[in-house]
Amino acid sequence: MCGIVGYIGRREASPIIVDGLKKLEYRGYDSFGVAIIGSSLTVSKHQGRIAENANSAGSLQGKLGIGHTRWATHGIPNEINSHPHTDCSGEIALVHNGIIENYAELKRALLAQGHTFRSDTDTEVIVHLIEDRYKETQDLLSAVQATLPSLKGSYAILVIRNGEDRLIAARCASPLVLGVGDGEYFAASDMTPLIEHTERAVFLEDGDIASVSRTSVAIFHGNEPVNRPIELVDLRLEDVKKGGFAHYMLKEIYEQPQAFYNTIQAVRDLSLSPEITCISPITLVACGSSFNAGLIFKYLLEEAGNIPARIEFGSEFKYFPPPVGGTVIGITQSGETADTISALLQAKAQNCCTIAITNVLGSSVSRVADRTIFMRAGPEISVAATKSFVTQLAVLMQMVNRLSENTYDEILAHGHHVIEELLLMDFSDAVDLCMTAQSIFYVGRGAFYPVSLEGALKMKEIAYIHAEGYAAGELKHGPFALLSPKTPVIAICMPGKTYGVMISNIKEMKARGAPVIALGSAGDKELIDIVDLYLPLPGNNVFVQVLASLVALQLIAYYTAVALGKDVDKPRNLAKSVTVE
Ligand code: AGP
Repeated sequence: MCGIVGYIGRREASPIIVDGLKKLEYRGYDSFGVAIIGSSLTVSKHQGRIAENANSAGSLQGKLGIGHTRWATHGIPNEINSHPHTDCSGEIALVHNGIIENYAELKRALLAQGHTFRSDTDTEVIVHLIEDRYKETQDLLSAVQATLPSLKGSYAILVIRNGEDRLIAARCASPLVLGVGDGEYFAASDMTPLIEHTERAVFLEDGDIASVSRTSVAIFHGNEPVNRPIELVDLRLEDVKKGGFAHYMLKEIYEQPQAFYNTIQAVRDLSLSPEITCISPITLVACGSSFNAGLIFKYLLEEAGNIPARIEFGSEFKYFPPPVGGTVIGITQSGETADTISALLQAKAQNCCTIAITNVLGSSVSRVADRTIFMRAGPEISVAATKSFVTQLAVLMQMVNRLSENTYDEILAHGHHVIEELLLMDFSDAVDLCMTAQSIFYVGRGAFYPVSLEGALKMKEIAYIHAEGYAAGELKHGPFALLSPKTPVIAICMPGKTYGVMISNIKEMKARGAPVIALGSAGDKELIDIVDLYLPLPGNNVFVQVLASLVALQLIAYYTAVALGKDVDKPRNLAKSVTVE
């Protein structure tokens, strides 16, 4: 996810654009750039945070311009890969938020036609395509209209050309809004950078293209003129940053369907060398939620592919490495977790091949590992891992799929739909039972055991309620002594080979006075009759049921923390990335 800003009007453009980009840094912040048209088109691009180079970028002269703050998806974070990108002539500049899925084939064709590419990004193909079309149309709007049908994927783009006093904006599956000021117009990824200038907004729709001059806006859907209403936006700046959500965590939970889909698309052609299974078991290292994701992978792989895997805590692996060989996979959304990086370095010292699964291009782990597989979660601001966790699962489930003859292609291609269904469910009864709890147990068997670990971790870290995830069969070996009406149990009980024994476990817990909340499959009458609260989840296979139960547990923890008035996005004592051992 990146942030884009455009301006045309009576004021100098670059200070407005740079200030707007600062307000969009929550969408990405590894590099940024500005292109301004004054006496000519000038571009200023920089790696790193905006504050470090605001002066040079903000001093370009001209009253028309575009800018971009980047969350790298293709091409590591550096000055060359930062936006804006220009065509061969340097006369056209473009910024883009989204992913062009067919960029490789487009780039090959453009190179064959003699175009010169400067960056490793997917975005750069768009500006060269526009360059080609412009030679035919001599009109920027028409050139953009002729270009967009070639693109597959998602985009919100802003385009300017030296000699044309207007800004072209277009969107497909990435947000883009126009701001209508007094004698000036704005364009941006959302209202965050615009709200201080104007409350009048025009929200473009997928397939819309807008031509924004100093005096008017013409909007087309494809090539057909359309009218989009001017809406009055009444949002506080802070709220707008969260897209109207109360917390980044809730916003990021709601971004999970798109994040899961984007990641599955990104790893659609994932190839795993046969060597990865030549030395069993496959070893993974990770911490916290990433560890729980790895443990889910273990259960899914062993069940689906009959291939052994093990997951080790990064913090243990460095000092107590198991006898490893072959491939070690490090899972870390930030790519900066010291324990995980240390473990991978230890694995390299033992001549292992290392793979990193991370959310951040250019992160430390991507420079340590022999190979890096990137998730497409976009920036995750809230300390609690949610969309990063679900996109780790997207990568890991695709690995399981690859290692079990692609049995799950169809399931993964639609996994995001089950997350969408969960977002519509109400968990207020579960929250009522949890918010007064002295302690909460989460229990499951198989892959639902690490799902229970993750649900408990969420509740601990944001609601500050002691919670423990347990293999359901283990609770009777001691922790039963803790059961009481003040210790609700959240039991994940899905149809399958452990259903019967789960029902028995639940009856045992009930017999000891603990309220039981059950996550089960729809219409399970036996389960309904024996528990205090029954939450029916969609899905008829373990991959989908894992995703569904995870999102349910995320939302239960979130709304419990909100009910208790906790600082959901910045929980006490925690950090988003633990860069110390
Ligand atoms: C999860 O909600 C926590 N924020 C924490 O456990 C986190 O998963 C852990 O610190 C690992 O972070 P990483 O994925 O960036 O390595």
